[in-house]
Amino acid sequence: MRVLALETSCDETSASVVEGSGERVQLQSLVILSQDIHRVFGGVVPEIASRAHLTAVVPVVERALRDAHCTLADVDAIAVTHAPGLVGALLVGVSYAKGLALGAGKTLLGVHHMEGHLFATSLEAPDAVPPFTALLVSGGHTLLLDVAAWGDYRMLGATRDDAAGEAFDKVAKLLGLPYPGGRPLEALAATGDPARSRFSRPMLRRDQHPGDADYFDVSFSGLKTAALHAVRNSADLAADAPHIARAFQDALVDTLVEKTYRAAQAHGRTRVVLGGGVACNRALVQGMQRRLGDRGATVFAPSVRLATDNAAMIARAALFHAERGETSDWTLNAHASLPLPGMRT
Ligand code: KG4
Ligand code: ZN
Repeated sequence: MRVLALETSCDETSASVVEGSGERVQLQSLVILSQDIHRVFGGVVPEIASRAHLTAVVPVVERALRDAHCTLADVDAIAVTHAPGLVGALLVGVSYAKGLALGAGKTLLGVHHMEGHLFATSLEAPDAVPPFTALLVSGGHTLLLDVAAWGDYRMLGATRDDAAGEAFDKVAKLLGLPYPGGRPLEALAATGDPARSRFSRPMLRRDQHPGDADYFDVSFSGLKTAALHAVRNSADLAADAPHIARAFQDALVDTLVEKTYRAAQAHGRTRVVLGGGVACNRALVQGMQRRLGDRGATVFAPSVRLATDNAAMIARAALFHAERGETSDWTLNAHASLPLPGMRT
């Protein structure tokens, strides 16, 4: 089966073609157009994002088909991210996918963006398949899941306030770094001295037990405030910024690593799969490998291209659903938020 997918949930216009069946799926093309315009505003401006998708969507899809050496006629299904995300941005992708599917007589499939992130790593690492513990860390979400099988998910923990990527972006801004701030903050932290500044690990105490409401959950707003105080108390921010960045990143990474360790332990999983833009962070990946490695677990992290928003992960998730005979009808709509399909309570 061959799937063409579109992703327009935030500020990347992306299209991709994948082909295969079961776990043997090949990426045939992936085009990602990042909307750099938002850097000027220090964050994503929804209407600008929607309009940029509208201009980009046709050439991006055409390029993805060309790179895959196929035409629309060779595609079996057309998939599109329909939730969660910026509604105006999602509507561009959903409307265009509907038009394509209707015009070419193809099956239409709406995909949940976060389910896409779960599938991303498996496109590169054939062993990144269930059962596994998943940590999805993006600009909008921080989710800790147990994945017993594709389509069978259990939510273990989530953020109570800011998403991990959002915390990176906000602290980066305090330190005078450009948007999005995750990557520049990681680079700055690499030059920081961990002995110069230390922030307490949020929601992480020894006396927490499985079953406690905060055992798997995380919270980053306190950490952000700690960074704010450190910035305000600094007499020489240029000199202190690397140490503050390091203290922030260390506390955030330690927290995510420990919560993920707890999740893998609680469900006896020997594979951990990371996803979302923050999974690009080397300190996070190395921290996971150190902590999980000592119990014989393997940590899978996607490449930068597949960690951040992309249509290949949407195509891969769609292929799984299409093979189960699941399709969407012409009433498919865009939703700012929607529960992950297949979530057990
Ligand atoms: O998954 P993604 O591309 O978009 C969303 O669905 O939100 O994630 C974007 C987020 C941004 O907050 C960005 O600052 C963060 O991922 N990010 C990083 C790194 N690279 C991107 N955070 C920490 N370290 C990085 N190297
Ligand atoms: Zn995302």
